[in-house]
Amino acid sequence: MPKDAESAGREITVTPQPTGFGAEITGVDLSRPLEPMVLAEIKAAWARHGVVVFPDQPLTLEQLEAFTLQFGPFGHDPYVKPMEGHPNVLEVRREPDEKVTPFGGNWHSDWSFQAQPPAATILRSEIIPPVGGDTLYCDAASAYEALPDATKAKLAALRAIHSASKAYGPDSAYSRELHLRAMPIIVSPEADKTYVHPLVRTHPVTGRKALFISPVYTVGIEGMAPNAADPLLAELYKHLVQDQFIYRHRWRPGMVVIWDNRCTMHNALGGYDGHRRVMHRTTVAGEAPI
Ligand code: SIN
Repeated sequence: MPKDAESAGREITVTPQPTGFGAEITGVDLSRPLEPMVLAEIKAAWARHGVVVFPDQPLTLEQLEAFTLQFGPFGHDPYVKPMEGHPNVLEVRREPDEKVTPFGGNWHSDWSFQAQPPAATILRSEIIPPVGGDTLYCDAASAYEALPDATKAKLAALRAIHSASKAYGPDSAYSRELHLRAMPIIVSPEADKTYVHPLVRTHPVTGRKALFISPVYTVGIEGMAPNAADPLLAELYKHLVQDQFIYRHRWRPGMVVIWDNRCTMHNALGGYDGHRRVMHRTTVAGEAPI
């Protein structure tokens, strides 16, 4: 018997990764408006597992936009020109002849240099290379919880300085590689501005604390000289990217992944030179970290 939207919604299955970080959701059709209970279940899984994967969801750009808006208003995406006719969708594209590091190819939490960084990023896979192109995700909440109490106490009052300068400033890596990339990246002196956030932030839904720093966007610690801040940050990055905090996502075409920028970092891997990779990306507005 054909299932109506309501009964189909009841079949939603959330399958967490063994660590609890990352989960797959099946039994839902993201191309249609979600019933309130299904949306609530997806939001709960997103908060609980940090990264949620929906296989076999070949959404159109309009459906991706509509899915995104069920989580909240679009975030503000600077430094990459959006798609024609889709001002809130970025195309993450790498052509077969590109040799440079993939876009997003170092650990970061999206746009953490903003006053209110995006709560979520949603990525939908269009063209996936036959090898490589995985995305790594890091569980910054579990990493925080695993720190010794003395380290937690030391970090409690610290505020990290975030900036887009290393990625999008006039002297950034991207600025030197613009002609080598298919993506319309925008380099601007605006990127050199800084914004300060708590180094440890508290998730507004789960109440869990997470390290909120990244090698791409964190440029220092407020009130600390670089020769003190840099070794501390390096030690925390080494701690964060240990295997037990990582979920490695292997893409297939037509997958949708939503992640929580408030308690994760991610890193787009290469390994597919000679092949094209195309993804479509939206963000959901977030709140000021506390
Ligand atoms: C990103 O950092 O948003 C890109 C992630 C990816 O392409 O896997």
